Amino acid sequence: MEPVFLRACRGENVDHVPVWFMRQAGRSLPEYRALRGTGSILEAIADPAMACEVTLQPVRRYGVDAAILFSDIVVPYHAIGFGVDVVPGRGPVIAHPFAGRADLERLRDLTDADIAHVTATVDLVVGELKASATPLIGFAGAPFTVASYLVEGAATRDFAVIKGLMHRDPALFDLLIDRLVAITVSFLRAQIAHGAQAVQLFDSWAGALTRDEYRRFALPATERVLAGIADLHVPTILFGVGTGELLDLMSGAGSSVMGIDWHVDLDDGRRRVGAKPVQGNLDPARCLSGVELGVEAAREVLVRAGREAGHIFNLGHGVLPTTDPAVLEAVVRVVHDEGRAGVR
Ligand code: CP3
Repeated sequence: MEPVFLRACRGENVDHVPVWFMRQAGRSLPEYRALRGTGSILEAIADPAMACEVTLQPVRRYGVDAAILFSDIVVPYHAIGFGVDVVPGRGPVIAHPFAGRADLERLRDLTDADIAHVTATVDLVVGELKASATPLIGFAGAPFTVASYLVEGAATRDFAVIKGLMHRDPALFDLLIDRLVAITVSFLRAQIAHGAQAVQLFDSWAGALTRDEYRRFALPATERVLAGIADLHVPTILFGVGTGELLDLMSGAGSSVMGIDWHVDLDDGRRRVGAKPVQGNLDPARCLSGVELGVEAAREVLVRAGREAGHIFNLGHGVLPTTDPAVLEAVVRVVHDEGRAGVR
């Protein structure tokens, strides 16, 4: 029988509600901090032995139902030499942001050689996970979210530069998006070819868009990425933050599962998404006040998830670095013991 996580992604009945956590590998784990030291995250990702070990750490500690590859949404752009760094506490920083037509040449398609370090990590992880039949989730940034980093040059609150480009020169924006669609499809196909059994597309910043903007500037690219891997038949999860107002539109993009961020009550999220499995959505901030309160918050999510099949438990955004791993251990136990969605 297929692993529970994959069955839930397909909306099938399960033995227990599956759970994993966005950003489950990372600074909240002492074993991660010990292994990583102070080197840059892009160097760690480039080292398949280290990236494999970091991917496996949360699987061992938490007994989650899936691993997520230790990588980052900017990895393919770093790999083709776009000039990306990831700065602790800040995230991706671009030395020369995308500003005009000449910059399209800096966005050539990915070759297998560019991301040989990533596929080597996938090979190692898949080998290690075989014994426990734990699936590996691959991932990529969705074109709009990646474009926001490449154009703004770093994280932004107001998305002023990318919105300026979208509305002032939509033809150039479309050419940029065409490049990002091609790179994203190549990046996901490579991970799946090497054994990733599901993929998540992070459109983390889609919530910055109005419905009209989402329809015009983000949705078509996401649809094209999902269509570009449809022949590989792995479950796909689409996730963004602050996307409550967009969930119905996002749900139409073609993913197998919709990720629901923590702002939306999960029962309401299920209604907005329609007949499709959902993933989410415990507020990561509610995991910062000890085991008892964390478990209470997890139970609230389980109640809202209901009994219908098609719930993958997760946080409603990534694990916060100050999270006590004991809280997440307790959340996994309560989800496995008390989750009822699709459990027969
Ligand atoms: O465990 C996992 O979920 C897999 C690893 C993972 C990383 N980045 C590793 C990482 C995943 C899934 C990502 C995706 C990612 N990267 C997203 C989408 C998810 C989201 O949060 O919405 C985004 C927007 C990025 C860009 C990025 N990279 C940010 C915003 C940061 C945080 C900066 C900081 O220091 O707070 C990074 C760095 C990064 N990527 C870290 C990790 C574990 C933190 C650095 C470290 O712990 O060494």
